[in-house]
Amino acid sequence: MSYQAPRGTQDILPEKIGGWQRLEKIIKAFCDLYRYEEIRTPVFEDTSVFKRENDSSDMVNKEMYSFTMGSDNLTLRPEGTAGVIRSFVQHKLFGSMELPVKLYYMGEMFRHERPQKGRYRQFNQFGVENIGIKSPLADAEIIAFGYSLIKALGITEVSVLINTLGDNFSREEYKSKLKEHFKNDLGCLCEDCKRRYQQNPLRILDCKVDKDLDIIKNAPSLSESLNDESKKYFEEVLKALDDLNIPYKVDDKLVRGLDYYSHTVFEVVSTHSESGSQSTLLAGGRYDNLVSYFGGPELSGVGFAAGMERLLLTMELENIKLEEDNPLDVYIISLSNTGNYPLNVATMCRAYGFSCEINMIERSMKSQFKSVERKKAKNVIIIGEDEVKNNKVNIKNIETQKQIVASYDEIIDVLEEFMEGDHHE
Ligand code: HAM
Repeated sequence: MSYQAPRGTQDILPEKIGGWQRLEKIIKAFCDLYRYEEIRTPVFEDTSVFKRENDSSDMVNKEMYSFTMGSDNLTLRPEGTAGVIRSFVQHKLFGSMELPVKLYYMGEMFRHERPQKGRYRQFNQFGVENIGIKSPLADAEIIAFGYSLIKALGITEVSVLINTLGDNFSREEYKSKLKEHFKNDLGCLCEDCKRRYQQNPLRILDCKVDKDLDIIKNAPSLSESLNDESKKYFEEVLKALDDLNIPYKVDDKLVRGLDYYSHTVFEVVSTHSESGSQSTLLAGGRYDNLVSYFGGPELSGVGFAAGMERLLLTMELENIKLEEDNPLDVYIISLSNTGNYPLNVATMCRAYGFSCEINMIERSMKSQFKSVERKKAKNVIIIGEDEVKNNKVNIKNIETQKQIVASYDEIIDVLEEFMEGDHHE
């Protein structure tokens, strides 16, 4: 039997990890710029955190990894927002921190979807949540955050799509208009849409199966149901984006796959010709009822999450390289009968911040020099029996080919001289 990672999951191997670490670093730097603080919540939560009353989304109804342990009903998190808001309410952050509370997270999410390029069953999201104020400026700021992050990664071929779902009143009115519209044609809709009709007819517009039916194409538009307040809110968001010179397209059909949104919803999508059907890099919106749902005060929030695998895939498509070379400062060549001496030298080098590897097996000098080449070491320290006896080493700089015999106490000075101009910590 050969063992494989489960379908829809992937191993991130050392050759790719540099890109991930760099991405995480850039994200953290951005969070610092925008003053978002990190929060880490559990990878699993009580199922009720995600499966909220009457939730009609596919994510909740079809894709959750749920299990019971003893009397606990638990679910691997399919997204980050619900857990963050649960935590925000549980720890009463609305009382102890100044509003808006600005939080970010990075980590694994789990959805039982049909795996394909850019769509996995375990994937990583970077997400931000701005909780506690309701202002079009906050919506615009968070879109600017996502858009500038993507630009800072070097991704150029993107488009911002935006829509409004209006406030609760507008949405209720729209839902009843949709119910009226679909009432006599329920038979044409797929089984999922029949459920959606009962739970939340808005979801029908998002259906991948029925999307080409005339009855969906001719459905009434949400914008006709918006009340003045909702229209004004959206206009202000768009005006702020105009002032920030952020290009966007209003997409009347954008309803987003999750149930908690109200007012602004948005996506940043890759427009690269090869990005395929999984082109949404980042998506989010405003949620008015989530904090109160978890038992907190009536506070609104806005946020987004980006699929980190998708960011990296898109960067690959656009030929953007994130991995940095990570050369080795010192490789210690050790010959026969050198005992603990090489390890002592390595330990001292590391204490002074030089990255260091030691040969620990019996092999020829030639074969050890092959490792020096493969590891792109900048310096070699050669230790043989004589060096140990005399408490000395041979140090060679690969670039200049300069070689010095140094006493044990002089090793660090020589390395520092050899590496002048190089940064090491
Ligand atoms: P979402 O649209 O479900 O929103 O996911 C956000 C992003 O996660 C997607 O745009 C995509 O890049 C990535 N993503 C989703 N599913 C997968 C998958 N199966 N494989 C790879 N990447 C995936 C949310 O999760 C909301 N919590 C966003 C949010 C935050 N709204 C307000 N605050």
